Amino acid sequence: MSFLKEINRRRTFGIIAHPDAGKTTLTEKLLLYGGAIQEAGAVKSNKIKKGATSDFMEIERQRGISVATSVLAFEYNGIKINILDTPGHKDFAEDTYRTLTAVDSVIVVVDVAKGVEEQTEKLVEVCRMRNIPMIVFVNKLDREGKDAFDLLDEIEQKLGLTVCPLSFPIGMGYDFKGIYNIWEKNVNLFSGDSRKNIEETTEIQDLDSDVLTKLVGDKAADNLREEIELVNGIYPTFDRDDYLTGKLQPVFFGSALNNFGVRELLDCFVEIAPKPRPKQSEERLVKPEEKDFTGFVFKIHANMDPNHRDRLAFIKIVSGEFKRNTPYLHVRHNKKMKFSSPNAFFAEKKQIVDISYPGDIVGLHDTGNFKIGDTLTEGEKIHYKGIPSFSPEHFRYINNADPMKSKQLYKGIDQLMDEGVAQLFTLDFNGRKVIGTVGALQYEVIQYRLEHEYGAKCTYENLNVHKACWIQTDDEKSEEFKEFLRVKQRYLARDKRNQLVFLADSMFSLQMSQQKYPSITFHMTSEFE
Ligand code: G4P
Repeated sequence: MSFLKEINRRRTFGIIAHPDAGKTTLTEKLLLYGGAIQEAGAVKSNKIKKGATSDFMEIERQRGISVATSVLAFEYNGIKINILDTPGHKDFAEDTYRTLTAVDSVIVVVDVAKGVEEQTEKLVEVCRMRNIPMIVFVNKLDREGKDAFDLLDEIEQKLGLTVCPLSFPIGMGYDFKGIYNIWEKNVNLFSGDSRKNIEETTEIQDLDSDVLTKLVGDKAADNLREEIELVNGIYPTFDRDDYLTGKLQPVFFGSALNNFGVRELLDCFVEIAPKPRPKQSEERLVKPEEKDFTGFVFKIHANMDPNHRDRLAFIKIVSGEFKRNTPYLHVRHNKKMKFSSPNAFFAEKKQIVDISYPGDIVGLHDTGNFKIGDTLTEGEKIHYKGIPSFSPEHFRYINNADPMKSKQLYKGIDQLMDEGVAQLFTLDFNGRKVIGTVGALQYEVIQYRLEHEYGAKCTYENLNVHKACWIQTDDEKSEEFKEFLRVKQRYLARDKRNQLVFLADSMFSLQMSQQKYPSITFHMTSEFE
């Protein structure tokens, strides 16, 4: 197959959802359609389950699973689909943000009863900022839930989307009769055993025909006719360009658990979802069709086995072909590197591959050369736009609890930060190290992993910080900036890239500083022009 054909047949996306909305179940059904797995239950949930084991042991269990689910690839009707895993747990939101830099589109799963939940709001906001094309799947229609129109309203208001229903439920919960597929103009009846079978659909070109009445009964047929008329009146008609530019979001309804409405979603997805998209580097826009290979690291996964400390760096291929045993430039190190066993991902296996194409993800064994955000090329010195760090929510001093092991401790901290587990800040005035995290769970993970993987011990001390803000000024010599540095001396720190950071102890002190020093910009993320 030609290079261009390989690019055109790839779809790389992520499924985002609040925990429990049905992401794992939907992923599994998609894999079943692709024939990638044979039975339900084969895809392990990456969810943090609350239960008998302590939370951080649960995270270790989850970490083991998440290697297997990092990338799930399968073929469907000649299309190569790569699903990138996105943890729904809020403490891992940063992982998900980073993964979103490697997807070309997303599917958002919403629970019909719970509606739009907190994590969905946050993740969709990130996708909206990046104009990532989104399709919404309203799940659990076999249960009693919100009225479809109310829910569509909620999705528009809370998520800031412009929805365009491409399917519509006939009834719900106990009365759930099936789905009218607006996209294909047919009706799919819910029989309850579609779990096992791939359902039969009935073509309905004209909603007024008797066929519909015969299928679902008088009342449901009339309701549906009214509802579809309303849909046509209220919502914009589907326009692929609007979808691709993030201006419009198609919505599907179904029940992942019952494998209902999933085929409709998948068929439409492979037709409309974008092939690998061009990516902006600091220097220029890079197109997938370009001959020379380029790619970037969006995730690093440490080996679970402490005796084998190698890590797997996940590279998204942006342009050209990635070939095994070929020297590529690690731009940050300005060093050529060859990879003898790049892994490609299939359903739940990984395999060594000779060649990969734009849209694909390869896993490279790494002994500490890579950091999240690193660029690999055939020689050109370009840098893919960094993956921003967001201000952490929690801050603690980290202390060395075993003076004999300080080397191990610093190495461990360094590597865990490269993996993106947390952020490290060094206070300007006393050199003390502060760890900032999105969730409190990460502190236990870091402590556990430092001990088990690096043989180092640490303790924490609370530190009262509200937000970390990255500081920018046009004039470092101004009196105003000098005063800021002097007055806020105790609250200033450096991040890993030596950028100046202000650790504000309260919202109030941040607001006061913003007022008092108008020539200084306080950024909430580490990436700014
Ligand atoms: P997540 O990955 O988004 O966190 O959600 P997951 O797929 O694990 O689904 C969460 C729960 O919702 C699971 O039940 C799952 O079976 C259920 N579920 C998913 N889709 C549907 C659906 O279409 N209808 C109904 N009624 N339930 C659905 P659980 O009891 O938490 O887990 P399990 O014991 O069934 O594995």
